This record gives sequence, structure tokens and C-alpha cells, in this order.
Amino acid sequence: MSVAKKEYKRVTVKSLIEMKQNGEKISMLTAYDYSMAKIVDAAQVDVILVGDSASNVIAGHETTLPITLDQMIYHASSVVRAAKRALVLVDIPFGSYQSDSKEALRSAIRIMKESGGHAVKVEGGEEIKESVSRILQAGIPVMGHLGLTPQSIYKFGTYTVRAKEEEEAQKLKEDAKMLEELGCFGIVLEKIPAKLAKEVAESVSIPIIGIGAGNGVDGQVLVVHDLLGMTHEFNPRFLRRYMNLYEDMGSAISQYVDDVKSKDFPNENEQY
Ligand code: KIV
Repeated sequence: MSVAKKEYKRVTVKSLIEMKQNGEKISMLTAYDYSMAKIVDAAQVDVILVGDSASNVIAGHETTLPITLDQMIYHASSVVRAAKRALVLVDIPFGSYQSDSKEALRSAIRIMKESGGHAVKVEGGEEIKESVSRILQAGIPVMGHLGLTPQSIYKFGTYTVRAKEEEEAQKLKEDAKMLEELGCFGIVLEKIPAKLAKEVAESVSIPIIGIGAGNGVDGQVLVVHDLLGMTHEFNPRFLRRYMNLYEDMGSAISQYVDDVKSKDFPNENEQY
């Protein structure tokens, strides 16, 4: 289905707020390297998230905790070189902003200076208020991330839906309001009830981007490897797979192995 949308040569934080005002949904997708980011950008995805999910998807760690600031800067700088239209948003990794607000600002500045990214994302609400505020004061756009925040996985214990109980839902609503008031340009809501996500999206003027948060929000984000079906063991209900690259790539690579073994590759036209 084609949708009416305004043309943007370069998506900025202002464009995203305008999209919300115009009722245009925002598309956001991860990428961690140059080649993937080129494809994602050419497909007109509005925001490319250099997520700390690179820790799982690229490095094979069980959680997002091990990835370092240097590694995030390396991924982000590769993505920035590819992105001609999309806004490049970079996760500040675990351990680089929680201890104090000065450290948070130093980390955000390193990301902006060394990778050329356009904005940063941090997980949490009230607990990281000072850090968010200090980064914003330096002129760096910040996106919040509430609900299931994978950097706190050991506190939660599981990756199940968050904020089903009234107390947690209330705190989430307050945190979202607080992030808006501080000056964040948007918030990711991960794995929370759709009704609550819609309520939050309607109560703030900044874009709310959902992952596992239903259709009542202002935009959606997915991990590109999940959407393409490369991570075939990850099957949450919220995931829509558009391809089965795990199988397609596997068969192509098996075919290559057969061709080499059978001496079919290279043939006369594939040599000098
Ligand atoms: O790191 C990431 O990919 C994310 C998304 C799941 C929102 O934070």
C-alpha cells in the first residue's frame, strides 16, 4: 500500500516531530555496517538506529551489556558513511552514561565527534534525568527508551512484556512526560501493552516509536536482521518477517560449496 508522505532530502529531529504533527508514521530500522545501511537508507527508512543490539546480532553476545563505546563508534561511523537521507541515531552503550552525568556527556560527545552520528539514545527515566539533561544542554539530540530496556535485563530477569501492572505503567507515563519536558526529541517504547503505548503517544508532542508496542504510536522500529529473517531463532509475536534470508543465504552458500567441490566454479567465463 503506498502512502502520501512529504519528501525529505535529509531527515532531522525537526522532520520527525513534523511527521508526528502531520500524522505520518515514522520508519526506523537498525543497521550496524556500511553495506546494510546503504540498502536501508536507499529504501527511505527515516531513522537508522545503530543499536547496541549489535552486541547480540553482530558479536553474538547473549545481552547488550558487553558492547563498548569504541565498538559503537566503529559501527556508527560505518553507518554514517552510507546514510544520505536517514537520521542516524546511536545507542550510548551500557556503562557509558549511568555512573554520572559528566561521563554521560563525555560519551555522547565522543559518539557525535568520532562517528558523525546525528543523535543519541539512552535507556531509562527518572534515574538518568541528570545525564539526559546535561547531554541536551550540550546541543546533542536525545531519544529516550522506556518499557523493556535490555540494558537492565538482569534487573527484570526476563524479556517479557513490561508495564502490565498499574504501578509500572504509571511510572512509565511519568517518565515519558519527564523526557518530553527535558527536551528529548522522541522516545522508544519497547514491549509494553498497545493500549498503554497509545495513551503515552497521545499524551506527548514528541514522536513515540514502538517495538512490540502496537499500532497506536507514531512509528515503528525493528532490528533489520530480524525483519530479513537472518536471525531465525528469534520469534517474538511483534516481529513481522519480510524474508527468510537464513534459508536463502544458507542454500546459496551450500550451492557455492557444491560448485567448488564439483569443479563447476569457476567456469571458463569466470577466469582470466
Ligand atoms: O538496540 C536496539 O536495536 C534497540 C531497538 C530494539 C529499539 O534499542
